[in-house]
Amino acid sequence: MTLSKRVKQLSPSSTLAISAKAKQLRDEGHDVIGLGVGEPDFNTPDYINDAAKKAIDDGFTKYTPSGGIPELKRAIVKKFKEDNDLSYTVNEVIVTTGAKYSLYALFQAVIDEGDEIIIPTPYWVSYPEHVKLAGGKPVYVEGLEENDFKITKEQLEQVITDKTKAIVINSPSNPTGMMYSKEELEAIGNVCLEHNILIVSDEIYEKLIYTDEPHVSIASISDELKKQTVIINGVSKSHAMTGWRIGYAVGPEKIIQAMTNHASHATSNPTSIAQYAALEAYENETENKKMNAEMKKVFSERLDIFYEKIANIQGFSCNKPHGAFYIFPNVEEAVKMGGYNSVDEWVAALLEEEKVALVPGSGFGAPNNVRLSYATSLDFLNEAAKRIERFVKNSTK
Ligand SMILES: Cc1ncc(COP(=O)(O)O)c(C=O)c1O
Repeated sequence: MTLSKRVKQLSPSSTLAISAKAKQLRDEGHDVIGLGVGEPDFNTPDYINDAAKKAIDDGFTKYTPSGGIPELKRAIVKKFKEDNDLSYTVNEVIVTTGAKYSLYALFQAVIDEGDEIIIPTPYWVSYPEHVKLAGGKPVYVEGLEENDFKITKEQLEQVITDKTKAIVINSPSNPTGMMYSKEELEAIGNVCLEHNILIVSDEIYEKLIYTDEPHVSIASISDELKKQTVIINGVSKSHAMTGWRIGYAVGPEKIIQAMTNHASHATSNPTSIAQYAALEAYENETENKKMNAEMKKVFSERLDIFYEKIANIQGFSCNKPHGAFYIFPNVEEAVKMGGYNSVDEWVAALLEEEKVALVPGSGFGAPNNVRLSYATSLDFLNEAAKRIERFVKNSTK
């Protein structure tokens, strides 16, 4: 049996390879610190869990409309009005099986064979794979480290062709934690308007920002940009609900309805119980605010402490992230000092020798960097920083 060309072109997940190796070492009895995780280390709050239990007791265990239950869509409409000053109707909302499926269905809905999709690097690992699975061609633009890994309008203009269909903007970003300002988004947005390029704005880390800068959704800058943008968001990161698989997209009705058709054949609907849990996540405003404040406080404290330690390791260079829960240092110098041929090799040696698991930047389109997640306790972070520093010192020839 031969596999399809479509799946054969998929790259294996760089995060999973490291996790598998870390697990193997752990099973062998080693004390491994994993900084590879992409999910908050908080439990889903009780008020949300209780709503899910009640949904089961109330019998909400059947198929739902493909695009999500109307109550949740209305809660999402309200969220956009309150948080982003954006007005959508329920027909412009789809609830999906995680934000990941919103992205997948969106690319399926808009890409034709050979269409080019602009993906700034470093990028979240699944964008290029989703684009390829839809028959599109990822076109990479390098977000330079000196510009906090963000791309500029000039860089964007250089890669636009008559095949350009869309661009992906992820702010705050996984893996860099960097954020675009309103001015930067406006400049990029104007180029997109001029060339009729759809903007895919992945705002899943919107609630995890640790500076005074406001989060700006590109769609909120003007009516024209709103019409040109599909926003992706969800409760996975904001409410520590990664396993529940609830994400959503809002945007032009035509696109959202096409995504809903796709979902109706692919997933039928996101899990009914999880939808009621997500509904409570938004509707219980007091608890919602409380948990968000708590998460921000904890992550922000960890970032301050961990960033100082990581940025000061010899051979590391790193700007301070503004959001999400990752630090993304350039370790090129440390790798060279240790005599390793690549960051991937260096990461494997660090895991073998000091039992610290990081994700190499190659999977994010940034081969000189590594991603360290601080979604783990301060004790682990302090110990990890110590081990990494020792590894760099010991490996320096
Ligand atoms: C940038 C980004 N977008 C989307 C997702 C997918 O989120 P979900 O777990 O809701 O599918 C993730 C998850 O890691 C992410 O980091």
